[in-house]
Amino acid sequence: MSVIIKTHLLILISCLIGLLDLLTLINGSTESVTRYDKSTVKCALCNQIVEEIFEGFNNGMTDKEISFLIGQRCETLNIFNFKLCNGTASIIMPTIRYMHTNKLLIQGNLCGIYLQADNCTLSDPDNLEWNIASSSVSKPPITPFILPSLESPTIKVLHLADLHWDPDYLVGSNAVCKELLCCRADSGDVVNKTDAAGYWGDYRSCDLPWYTIEKAVAHMAEKHSDSAYIIWTGDLAPHNVWSTNKEENIYVIERLMNLIQQYFPNTPVYATLGNHESHPSDTFAPPEITDEAFNTNWLYDVAARQWARWLPAEVSSTIRYGGYYTAVIQPGLRVISLNTNYCYTANWWTLSKSQDPASSLLWLNKVLEDAERAGEKVHILSHIPPGNQDCWTIFSREFSKIINRFESTVAAQFYGHTHKDEYKIFYDLVDRNRPTNVAFIGPSLTPFTELNPGYRVYTIDGRRPGSTWAVLDFATWAMNLTAANLFGPNVDPVWFELYQVRQEYKLDDLSPNSMDVFFQRMLVDDALFQRYFQNYYRNSDRRVPQGCDNDCRVRLLCFTVTTDIADQSRCVQIAKQIQKHDEF
Ligand SMILES: *[C@@H]1O[C@H](CO)[C@@H](O)[C@H](O)[C@H]1NC(C)=O
Ligand SMILES: *[C@@H]1O[C@H](CO)[C@@H](O)[C@H](O)[C@H]1NC(C)=O
Ligand SMILES: *[C@@H]1O[C@H](CO)[C@@H](O)[C@H](O)[C@H]1NC(C)=O
Ligand SMILES: *[C@@H]1O[C@H](CO)[C@@H](O)[C@H](O)[C@H]1NC(C)=O
Repeated sequence: MSVIIKTHLLILISCLIGLLDLLTLINGSTESVTRYDKSTVKCALCNQIVEEIFEGFNNGMTDKEISFLIGQRCETLNIFNFKLCNGTASIIMPTIRYMHTNKLLIQGNLCGIYLQADNCTLSDPDNLEWNIASSSVSKPPITPFILPSLESPTIKVLHLADLHWDPDYLVGSNAVCKELLCCRADSGDVVNKTDAAGYWGDYRSCDLPWYTIEKAVAHMAEKHSDSAYIIWTGDLAPHNVWSTNKEENIYVIERLMNLIQQYFPNTPVYATLGNHESHPSDTFAPPEITDEAFNTNWLYDVAARQWARWLPAEVSSTIRYGGYYTAVIQPGLRVISLNTNYCYTANWWTLSKSQDPASSLLWLNKVLEDAERAGEKVHILSHIPPGNQDCWTIFSREFSKIINRFESTVAAQFYGHTHKDEYKIFYDLVDRNRPTNVAFIGPSLTPFTELNPGYRVYTIDGRRPGSTWAVLDFATWAMNLTAANLFGPNVDPVWFELYQVRQEYKLDDLSPNSMDVFFQRMLVDDALFQRYFQNYYRNSDRRVPQGCDNDCRVRLLCFTVTTDIADQSRCVQIAKQIQKHDEF
C-alpha cells in the first residue's frame, strides 16, 4: 500500500478495491492478475462508485447519508476505517453535488480522467479536447549548450519540497492505523511496541512534527545562508484529508512561511501551492466559479498575502486570479510559478470540462513569448510535474508543446509532489530522440512514506553577460531517520550531503543531452541504476533493502522520460530493453 496517492476519489474507490485483493486471493497467486485485469476491475469499481453517488443525488439522499454508506463499505471491506471514508466523503460531497446540479460533470468521463493511467474509457472524449494556439512568433534556431568556464560566477539555490507539517503529530502514538495518516492522538491503540510513532518522525504513513522541521530549517540556515534565493514547491499541510479545514491550512501556511523568514531573513522565497494547501484537499476551482462556498479565492488570497513579502506588488493580481505569477528575480532571469493543481486528476474540477483552467497555459505561452523577446531565461516552478500519471494528459500534452517551442528560453523546471528524488526529460515532438529540457523534482522533507527526509541545493550559472542560468550541479541532503530516532530526543538529527549529482553519476553537466545520456546508461548499467534507486529513496533503510525488481525499474525509468501519460511508447521500449538485457 506504499504507493497510494492520497486523494478523495481514490479513497472512495479504494473502499471497493479491497475486492481486488479478495479476488486475487480466490484466484490464486497475484501474478495471475495482470496489470490489464487490475485496471479493468479498477475502472469498473470506479464507475460503480460514481454511479452510486449520482443515484444517491437523484434519489434525494443527503450528503450525510451517501457519505455514511461509503464509510460503512470501507469498514466492511476492512481497507480503511469508517472515520476516514465517511469523513473524506463528507468533505467533498457538497462540491460533487454542486458540480452535478450545475451539470459540470459527464458521468462517463469521470473515471476515464481519474484513472487515466489505468486506461479507463471516456464516454465523451471529444468534449474534453482543447489546445493552446501555438506562438505566432517562429522558433529561434537552437544553440548548443556551452558549459560556462570554471571562473564563471554561480549562485546557490535551496529547494524545499513537501514539508507536510502535522500539528497533531504525537510521539508514541499508533503508526500503523487504518487511516491515510497515522502517528496522531486519534490513530488508535498501539498494539505492539514496534507500532509506536518515532520521536523525530516515522517511515510509516506519518508526516512531521514541528521540531523536526525547525531543526531541519536551522541546519539549512547554518549551511546554506549563502543561497541567493529559495524555491518552495508546496505541500506544507498534512495528509489528513478526512478532517481538513480552511483555518488549519491557513495556520500551517502562515507558521511555516514565518519560520523560513525567521531563519532566512534576507533570502527571497519563490513559492507555489501544493494540492494539500486547499480544502477540501486537492480541490482548486477555476476562477469562473464565483460561489464562495466552492471557489478557491480564499486560498489564493492567503497565498498573495503570504508571498507578498518576497514579491513585487504587481504579481498579486494573477495569484488572486489563478494562483500563479511571474517576476524577474535576477538580471536576465525570470521565474514563473505555475499552478499545476489545475491538471491534477484528483481535483474534481479537473474531472469536469476543464479547458486550460484560469487560462494558465495561455498565460504561460504569452509570458514566454515576452521573455524570449526580452532575451530573458526562465525557471518554471510548480508543485505537480506535468506528465506525472496524476496530471491530466491534455494539460501535459499542451504544456509539452509550449516547452518544445520555448526550449531555449526555459533554462530549467522545478517540481515536488512525488516525494522522490528524481528528474524528468522532455524530448522534441518531431525529432523524438532529441532531448530539449529537464525538470528537476526535489525530495520531500516528510518521510511519508518509507523515505529519509531530504532537500536539494542547486548550483546555477550566475550573474554574467549571456548567462544561461542553467542548473550546473545539485546536491541532495538527507538525514537518517532510523539513526535520529535511535539517538532520541536529546541528540539533534544529523543532516548530511547524500550525493552531488555530477560526481555521483559521472555526468559532464546537467543539460538535456547529458541527462539523456545518463538515462541511457541506466538502462544497461545495473550498478548505476541501483545508485539512482538508493538516492531516489534517500538511502532509507526502510525501503532500499527491499530492492527494486524489473517492474520497479521500468516504472522509475519510465517516469524520467514520460511527459504525457497518453504516450507510453518510451515505457514500452524500456520494458523491452530491460527484459532483453536481463536475458544475458
Ligand atoms: C461522518 O463525517 C462527518 C464529517 O467529519 C461527521 O460530521 C459525521 O458525524 C460522521 N458520521 C458519523 C456517523 O460518524
Ligand atoms: C488501452 O485501451 C485501448 C482501447 O481499449 C487498447 O487498445 C489498449 O491496448 C489499452 N492499453 C493498455 C496498456 O491496456
Ligand atoms: C511485534 O512486532 C514485532 C516486529 O514486527 C514482531 O516480531 C512481534 O512478534 C510482535 N509482537 C506481538 C506481540 O505481536
Ligand atoms: C541509518 O542509521 C542506522 C542506525 O544507526 C544504520 O543501521 C543504517 O545503516 C543507517 N543507514 C544508512 C544508509 O547509512
